[in-house]
Amino acid sequence: MALRRPMVAGNWKMNGNAQLAQELFKKFAAKLHNDAVEVVLCPPTVYLESVRQQMEANKDALNGSIVRMGAQNLSQHDFGAYTGEISGAMLSEVGCRYVIIGHSERRRMYGETSNIVADKFAAAQKHGLTPILCVGESGPAREARRTFEVIAEELDVVIEKNGTMAFDNAIIAYEPLWAVGTGKSATPEQAQEVHAFIRKRLSEVSPFIGENIRILYGGSVTPTNAADLFAQPDVDGGLIGGASLNSTEFLSLCTIAM
Ligand code: G3P
Repeated sequence: MALRRPMVAGNWKMNGNAQLAQELFKKFAAKLHNDAVEVVLCPPTVYLESVRQQMEANKDALNGSIVRMGAQNLSQHDFGAYTGEISGAMLSEVGCRYVIIGHSERRRMYGETSNIVADKFAAAQKHGLTPILCVGESGPAREARRTFEVIAEELDVVIEKNGTMAFDNAIIAYEPLWAVGTGKSATPEQAQEVHAFIRKRLSEVSPFIGENIRILYGGSVTPTNAADLFAQPDVDGGLIGGASLNSTEFLSLCTIAM
């Protein structure tokens, strides 16, 4: 039986500020005192240093808990003339442990194809970061019963480009596009069905990976629906958007996930 430590990751998207980091750590210091959940904060890049400073300042109070930093994107290139881009090496240097890869908003608005996502996935691992790979189907794809086909394609491109052990050091986030930012989350049953499909598909490549990889659910998670979602056998926590910007709600989600 795999022991998958629950994870709650906050994707601030293009929101938040240094004060939010201070508020979150004040609450963590008061309430988060064990390693029953791994907490990951993914602020905009410009606030990574604020988060790192708060981690340092609260190190003693956070003793026993696991709070780490992540980025929301990275370049697939190592260095060079890519104005505005940030490399995996730079993210590692400032203390990131994770990086969100292939978020639906980046796939939709910034032309990130599955091939580019697979290259970013490889760049993350090359520079010592653990990729959080986002996969998910659109509303029309679900209505057309193509959910598994879409998810399989998004997983298979990564395996085809990076090898059968690609997911040995990775997290997957199932984020149905129709649930992201809509206030309409997947039901626990819908989430469990897709998470089980993902785990089975990866188990066919490597039973060890399939059993041990953490699969997060993302898409309108709130303190009201989190307990039923996180209770599903193949749901190992959440990738949180809106609720990660409210320190009380985010701490509540971390507590529920324990
Ligand atoms: O990456 C997490 C995000 O896409 C979910 O957003 O606001 O639906 O929790 P939200």
